Amino acid sequence: MKILLLGKTGQIGGALAKRLRTTAEMTEPERQTLDLADGEAIRRTVADAHPDLIINAAAYTDVEGAEDDPSKAELINATAPGILAEEAKKCGAALIHFSTDYIFDGTQATPYDEDAPPEPCNVYGRSKLLGEVAIRETGAAHVVFRSSWIYDVRGRNFLLTILRLAQREEVLRVVDDQFGAPTPATVVAETVAEIIAQTQNRPVEFFKDKGGIINLTCRGCTTWRDFAQSIVDRARRHGMTLSVQEVRGIPSSEYWGKAARPKNSRLDLSRLQKRFGLTTPEWEPALDNVFSDFDSLGLMP
Ligand SMILES: NC(=O)c1ccc[n+]([C@@H]2O[C@H](COP(=O)([O-])OP(=O)(O)OC[C@H]3O[C@@H](n4cnc5c(N)ncnc54)[C@H](OP(=O)(O)O)[C@@H]3O)[C@@H](O)[C@H]2O)c1
Repeated sequence: MKILLLGKTGQIGGALAKRLRTTAEMTEPERQTLDLADGEAIRRTVADAHPDLIINAAAYTDVEGAEDDPSKAELINATAPGILAEEAKKCGAALIHFSTDYIFDGTQATPYDEDAPPEPCNVYGRSKLLGEVAIRETGAAHVVFRSSWIYDVRGRNFLLTILRLAQREEVLRVVDDQFGAPTPATVVAETVAEIIAQTQNRPVEFFKDKGGIINLTCRGCTTWRDFAQSIVDRARRHGMTLSVQEVRGIPSSEYWGKAARPKNSRLDLSRLQKRFGLTTPEWEPALDNVFSDFDSLGLMP
């Protein structure tokens, strides 16, 4: 299968590139070669690559930055995915795209399933929702994986931020009134790769039938504070020297950011199980695996 993968320098894109290279013929343009702000360049790249499957793991992911530059967020997160879907349809390819729990305002008491009415609570979430709609409106064969709380051994993410701060601060103040499932990029990549294998090299037919929106996170639920505590505990067990003495819970209202965040980021995973027979790991063993990766890759910060 010929796959055009965008966003390989990111967390999910990097994990996907690593996972898929052994089984597919990959084209992986970086931002310098293909800037998603350039619609004509998107069209040219798809036509040149003539893929069977396009995977868009690139996005404007700076949640705070989006508040200051909504039009840039919309250009990259909504206009570009719409163009990708149009071009996918033209060249007979399917599109895999990623979206987020931030399309919800987090006021629902239970986990959100794929049919829950979206109500974004910030600019980033609105731009991602517009991306979902733009893709759907083209009629291209597609699947949009909604995920949340992504982290990895590389990149800019909560895990690495906590490890860095825990080495120099005695008290970490972390939000304890938002609930979600921390999800390593490798879990997303593994699940997506298994679903691609299920297409049996016929992604258009497969996703016409089984595509649409699919929630994809680890199972279980925690708060950012408890996630931070779990990171600190594991880091110590893995021999890291840390200054931190206390991980203190704070309400969202004391967080520095200006973008509102959903209190409830939990996504219902039934559709993933029913449609593809796949179950993701609980977030805690998944975190254990990431610490093992730190060790085996010699990356322990
Ligand atoms: N992170 C999360 O917690 C989270 C949660 C739910 C859903 N998601 C979604 O999952 C997907 C992947 O997220 P991630 O955390 O892996 O992203 P990430 O690590 O922030 O990486 C973003 C990727 O997009 C690329 N990119 C940004 N602007 C671009 C542009 N104008 N043209 C071309 N490439 C551009 C970046 O390239 P450079 O390296 O050159 O900047 C990078 O490869 C996104 O759709 C995101 O919305 C993320």
